[in-house]
Amino acid sequence: MEKHSLRLLISEEEIQKKVAEASQSLIQKYQDQEFLIIMIMKGSICFVADLIRQLPPEQVSLEFVRCSSYGKRGTQKGQLVIEGLEKIDVKDRHVLLIDDIFDTGDTLEELATFLRAKQPKDLWTLVLLFKRIKRKTSFLPDQALIEIGDEFVVGYGVDYKERYRGFKEIYVITP
Ligand code: IMP
Ligand code: MG
Repeated sequence: MEKHSLRLLISEEEIQKKVAEASQSLIQKYQDQEFLIIMIMKGSICFVADLIRQLPPEQVSLEFVRCSSYGKRGTQKGQLVIEGLEKIDVKDRHVLLIDDIFDTGDTLEELATFLRAKQPKDLWTLVLLFKRIKRKTSFLPDQALIEIGDEFVVGYGVDYKERYRGFKEIYVITP
């Protein structure tokens, strides 16, 4: 098994504090309306699992799409592949699109553009981590919980070559 050095970046306590704040702001935003969460697998699994347990269960539906741009290549970005989007019915619904990390923005921008064309009642984009980098696109998420530098991170759902998703904290990895 390959060994990597990991440096703690965000503690479990800090993550949970941000998730609790986000759930409160979403409760305020949607009031008593129903909304559909579309989670981007697999990286957002821990974030969404924690978040939905702090939202009113009767108001929330859940769907997922799969996106991958790294796969087994590790930290080297490849072609963006999206699966499962066509089947989701979003017309006239309040849609909350959730991803783990906003990096170049390509994933979220492409998904948001596709979803908007299907005429949801409204679309809100939420990410757990926002990388502070220079970007080509002016597209930004509507809500980002934690800003980080331009470093490759793992944990709390986020992987390096499919490993390390199970950490309760987020670490910087040096491959
Ligand atoms: P973007 O399309 O460049 O914004 O990339 C977003 C996707 O790339 C995220 O959904 C993550 O799955 C993945 N990604 C970006 N940065 C990292 C990282 O530091 N570690 C692991 N995955 C990452
Ligand atoms: Mg992802």
